[in-house]
Amino acid sequence: MGTIRHTVSIGQSFFISHPSYSHRLLGPACCYTGVASAPRPPPSPCGAMATNGAAGGPSTPATGSSLAAGGGGSGGAAGAVSYPPPSATSSELPAFELPPNVRLHPPTAQIRALMTIIRSAETSRADWIFSADRVIRLIVEFALNFLPVSPVTVTTPVDGAVHEGVAFSGKILGVSVVRAGEAMEPALRSCCRSCRIGKILIQRDEATAAPTLFFAKLPDDVASRHVLLLDPMLATGGSARMAIQALLDAGVPQSKIVFVSVLAARQGLAAVCAAYPDVSVVTAAVDAGLNAKKFIVPGVGDFGDRYFGTD
Ligand code: PRP
Ligand code: URA
Repeated sequence: MGTIRHTVSIGQSFFISHPSYSHRLLGPACCYTGVASAPRPPPSPCGAMATNGAAGGPSTPATGSSLAAGGGGSGGAAGAVSYPPPSATSSELPAFELPPNVRLHPPTAQIRALMTIIRSAETSRADWIFSADRVIRLIVEFALNFLPVSPVTVTTPVDGAVHEGVAFSGKILGVSVVRAGEAMEPALRSCCRSCRIGKILIQRDEATAAPTLFFAKLPDDVASRHVLLLDPMLATGGSARMAIQALLDAGVPQSKIVFVSVLAARQGLAAVCAAYPDVSVVTAAVDAGLNAKKFIVPGVGDFGDRYFGTD
């Protein structure tokens, strides 16, 4: 992607730059940054549909089927298919090593079942929205682990016992990439009451997939906050890079940005992570590639259209 030019409105003021800020977010201790391996059959989606989040299964290592589902791709010329043909088996596909700043949600049974529902072209709109909301809630909860905590001591109600714990520290800000990112706002608000939410309107050109930034509204003190940048889809990575750049231009250091997505394509993930190595990129699954129209394959389709009913 070439030079990004745009206008960002930050409250009443303009950009505040903190190029020397070097604070790092939480370390990757609970991240899965492994190499893809063999896929597993997904569990029946019915169990996930019947619950409202209470029936989480055991976590498994990062060997989910989406990681192993195909090779990378560079986009290629129009009409080209930049992912392995369906005939490829998992053992024939190249491994993909996640960039170190990717924080992949463990492929729990719940995540895999819910992703199976939202991937299916047969899923009804009601079931799709319900399941997408559940994945979003899980991924937002997971992403919050990459914000800093500080030690705190509390006294419990039991015999005056003392517990050495942690408390959330630092101010946070949600920033949604309009439109699909707005679907992630309720989950963030459910976890962080009265959380401030900025907006960045970026749209991909339907023919070229090139992103354009139309509008941004961020609070005056954005540069002092930890930012959860919300967009469920990372395909070519163009929109994510543009949104991240808007935050950097507003003075937010990379290390205070957590990009929160539901699904990423290898190609876009690699591009974003290479361009912004100190930004944490959270996602629930990584897919093999992009089709000629730059949609993620196997993907979920157009997230915004399926969520908001404009398909
Ligand atoms: C979608 C999605 C991302 C972008 C990802 O938005 O929400 O912002 O595409 O694609 P990229 O990685 O190739 O840039 P879109 O512009 O289609 O708008 P929408 O949210 O209104 O669906
Ligand atoms: N945006 C989407 O909603 N889906 C894709 O696969 C790519 C971009």
